[in-house]
Amino acid sequence: MLFRNRFLLLLALAALLAFVSLSLQFFHLIPVSTPKNGMSSKSRKRIMPDPVTEPPVTDPVYEALLYCNIPSVAERSMEGHAPHHFKLVSVHVFIRHGDRYPLYVIPKTKRPEIDCTLVANRKPYHPKLEAFVSHMSKGSGASFESPLNSLPLYPNHPLCEMGELTQTGVVQHLQNGQLLRDIYLKKHKLLPNDWSADQLYLETTGKSRTLQSGLALLYGFLPDFDWKKIYFRHQPSALFCSGSCYCPVRNQYLEKEQRRQYLLRLKNSQLEKTYGEMAKIVDVPTKQLRAANPIDSMLCHFCHNVSFPCTRNGCVDMEHFKVIKTHQIEDERERREKKLYLGYSVLGAHPILNQTIGRMQRATEGRKEELFALYSAHDVTLSPVLSALGLSEARFPRFAARLIFELWQDRGKPSEHSVRILYNGVDVTFHTSFCQDHHKRSPKPMCPLENLVRFVKRDMFVALGGSGTNYYDACHREEF
Ligand SMILES: *[C@@H]1O[C@H](CO)[C@@H](O)[C@H](O)[C@H]1NC(C)=O
Ligand SMILES: *[C@@H]1O[C@H](CO)[C@@H](O)[C@H](O)[C@H]1NC(C)=O
Repeated sequence: MLFRNRFLLLLALAALLAFVSLSLQFFHLIPVSTPKNGMSSKSRKRIMPDPVTEPPVTDPVYEALLYCNIPSVAERSMEGHAPHHFKLVSVHVFIRHGDRYPLYVIPKTKRPEIDCTLVANRKPYHPKLEAFVSHMSKGSGASFESPLNSLPLYPNHPLCEMGELTQTGVVQHLQNGQLLRDIYLKKHKLLPNDWSADQLYLETTGKSRTLQSGLALLYGFLPDFDWKKIYFRHQPSALFCSGSCYCPVRNQYLEKEQRRQYLLRLKNSQLEKTYGEMAKIVDVPTKQLRAANPIDSMLCHFCHNVSFPCTRNGCVDMEHFKVIKTHQIEDERERREKKLYLGYSVLGAHPILNQTIGRMQRATEGRKEELFALYSAHDVTLSPVLSALGLSEARFPRFAARLIFELWQDRGKPSEHSVRILYNGVDVTFHTSFCQDHHKRSPKPMCPLENLVRFVKRDMFVALGGSGTNYYDACHREEF
């Protein structure tokens, strides 16, 4: 089983690599002779970087392409892999919204001309795209909790609005949905044929890009997209912390983490020089340029193959992009070492993890509600969850990233339940801090549900180093 999984993983990664190297050459932004920074192709194949075998050199252009997540041939994935005597009980999906227009503009430049209407003869395309538009344009009635009802159901501006989901973003999630449908519905029959609204649990933040991403995923996923069976709840917090958001110690960790970020930036003279050059090009003070978070906009240019902006003073170029992107990668590395972000993450992710295990425990009791849960969210949602689970090595959430919790039952021992954790199709169960040692002792390719429950209820707070062993105490620790 393990060998077969590894083989499939290699196949999937080989396909990804082939696509990446091909598209690298297609991008006119990138010279055909892209320097490989001395990395062997073997080390570039992984989705989870492996600190043991991967050299510490990272290629900013390669990382940026992974982040764009440009739709290509259907990707292979490890979701739903289990021995025959296991039955799938429930699935919990956390997604980041798909490709979007920037949230910030680079001051005094023309913003990138990207069309956010959905058009069949424009790439990338998905066979369900037209049906999706036609279904969405028929409206929803009252399928959402207020204030979601006021949001458009699909992107529709000929020049994208700030933060708007693009056609690429819609296609990414139609693909996610279709992939999950083939595995969870067709293969594992997660939902009965006469499934009803209460078998789904759907929650999204109040942004059009998250609602639309969730709808696109569901449209690809569900056998019949019936508005009467869809009910999206609104989540006001990007941490999905519902009624448990008040946590002073979490905010203290965040402030320290931001201070760390600031100090690291000051140490990087090449970065400061790059911001200075770019500020000169667009003719604003360096401080103002930096505050406009130019990498967000530059990534949009990069992912959409649109040249970086020029003024009469010159052009923003690939070298600027590489310096800022490299710094981002460096920042993530230091973030792991200093562990302040881990503290923030443990407290930030606890409420949603607690909610998830609650849902899993109800399913183990034979309840048939909420068998498929979907949280349509942001990078600032997925990052803390990954980090809190001990997956701090995982890459920054790309567009349309998906993190999935699968709950399984051993048919031979019906009282035993197990979980699998998958990030972008890769099985990361045994990379988590609650199951790192388990597979060395057990031949089962899964983690006992109790491990996850114990971790969320108590053990995750150990990482904070204090005496608190529950959320309330850890959030109100005095000595911090
Ligand atoms: C990127 O744009 C250039 C010209 O603007 C074009 O020649 C090239 O084919 C494009 N690449 C892709 C992948 O669309
Ligand atoms: C965790 O979930 C249980 C129900 O499953 C709930 O009673 C409890 O308040 C939750 N705790 C937090 C901190 O969210």
